[in-house]
Amino acid sequence: MERIEHDIVIVGSGLAGLRAALEASRVSRGRLDVGIVTKVQAMRSHSVAAEGGTAAVLYPDEGDSLEGHVWDTVKGSDFLADQDAVELYVRTAPEELRLLERWGMPWSRRPDGRIAQRPFGGHEFPRATFAADKVGFLEMQTLYGAIQAFPNVHVHHEWFVTSILQGDGAFRGLTAIDLKTGNLVVVRAKAGIIATGGAGRIFGFTTHGHHSTADGLYMAYRAGLGLKDMEFIQFHPTGLVPSGILITEAARGEGGFLVNRDGERFMKGYAPSKMELAPRDVVSRSEMTEINEGRGLDGPDGIPCVGVDLRHLGKETILERLPQIREVTMKFLGIDPVNEIVPIKPAAHFTMGGVHTDIRGATELKGLWAAGEAACVSVHGANRLGSNSTSICLVYGRITGAEAAAHVEGWQGDGIPKDAVLAEERRIFDDTLRGSGDVSPYGVRDRLQAIMDEHAYVFRHGDELANALGAVRALKAEAYRNVADTEKAYNTNLLHVLELDSLLNAAELVLVGALARQESRGAHTRLDFPKRDDVNWLKHTIAHRTADGPRLSFVPVTITKHQPVERKY
Ligand code: FUM
Repeated sequence: MERIEHDIVIVGSGLAGLRAALEASRVSRGRLDVGIVTKVQAMRSHSVAAEGGTAAVLYPDEGDSLEGHVWDTVKGSDFLADQDAVELYVRTAPEELRLLERWGMPWSRRPDGRIAQRPFGGHEFPRATFAADKVGFLEMQTLYGAIQAFPNVHVHHEWFVTSILQGDGAFRGLTAIDLKTGNLVVVRAKAGIIATGGAGRIFGFTTHGHHSTADGLYMAYRAGLGLKDMEFIQFHPTGLVPSGILITEAARGEGGFLVNRDGERFMKGYAPSKMELAPRDVVSRSEMTEINEGRGLDGPDGIPCVGVDLRHLGKETILERLPQIREVTMKFLGIDPVNEIVPIKPAAHFTMGGVHTDIRGATELKGLWAAGEAACVSVHGANRLGSNSTSICLVYGRITGAEAAAHVEGWQGDGIPKDAVLAEERRIFDDTLRGSGDVSPYGVRDRLQAIMDEHAYVFRHGDELANALGAVRALKAEAYRNVADTEKAYNTNLLHVLELDSLLNAAELVLVGALARQESRGAHTRLDFPKRDDVNWLKHTIAHRTADGPRLSFVPVTITKHQPVERKY
């Protein structure tokens, strides 16, 4: 078995992971050895799929304010966000955007030369900073380029991390499969950061790439760490039908309309002041109400949907501001948004929950932090505002990178727990690669996604959630650890089975939390409990693993300035 060492090991190479590596290198002036372990080629991390904008207050001289961004985020979160964390995030975000610019980010510009910002849902000021509709890709490329200046950063492309190693209550390192050879590698490290993204692929209709399989969440859960607020899944209002590919909110930020089968801008009946730029939970519920009440369009493959109409924006604006979504709709549907309405409906887009951390991203395990979508700090609460996610990846990449670097200075680290490594070797090779399952893992994955699409979508009900939980637990009991490919090198079949472990467990936690939370808040709408219940549910859920399944506990929400009020848009 190969063994390697780093001072800091970062799992995940999206925006949060790259930014953390950069910060740990900056603050240590390149002295610390930083390893990034990623199951894909680094530049294929899901962050490249972010499209429309990165929120930050850049123009207080034009009327924006830090207080305004805090309030919009807290109100958008349906008051479940921890307000001290929101304040820290909002204060730190503007400098992150300027740093990116210094590292070469090609922000779009206004005619006066200043960095351009556009309106996004739930924000009272146009503070979504953009580079056409390719924001995530260009931010990733900028960070990846900046990292090249630091020879102390080593990227392990196509390594799949399988477990967290710990001893005496502290982080000791990881085990990972080098997918190229199929060998298990022990990575010893003094500090770690989980930046593996969310659980998008527990759903079938999702904006997420196929590799967003909740592996970091499951790994943390197996290591005994709490996962917070897992019931809150964001459904993005404009997932392209039938694929689910993201049609950016910038389409509405630039002035696009949402229309039903009568061509009516139906948002006027749901959010008359914000219309299409209400927060995502509000827009997604409105769309599904239109569809459920028979006012939807007949979409491709007979899927009922609504439409986003960009025709009035004109070709020039679409080409300049939204070129990527035009390319996507033309390639995937043969539809040119310059002339035609684009069929869309809500698609699973973001996991508001994640690894439970404190305000500086520290997990319950000493020496281990979490950042980005994998973490639940919680800034997003029950509903994230569009464009807050890429900026929070930058902010918490920076914070956790600096915290991990400070932890490492002066810390000698300790040995690797050999028993845990041997147990992991048995789990991967004996129980899984040479396992005796006879059910197709791909069939199980499809059934899981169908269950979640049907029962844990925009509108939920206790009876359906309970049925779904039973069905997911039955799937977990099936013999899906069936790896037909027995080769070690590049065994994607083995990878998919291990990913399925993560998906099944993440889905179970989403359902357990959703069933427990007997209220409607943000993106979690219970038809049997239609009201927000601040008396009983103004609190976070935390799930820990036990031999009998997940155990839920609760922690209060941190409220600094803003008492919960009714949300109106
Ligand atoms: O619609 C979008 O461009 C997505 C942005 C986000 O999720 O923040």
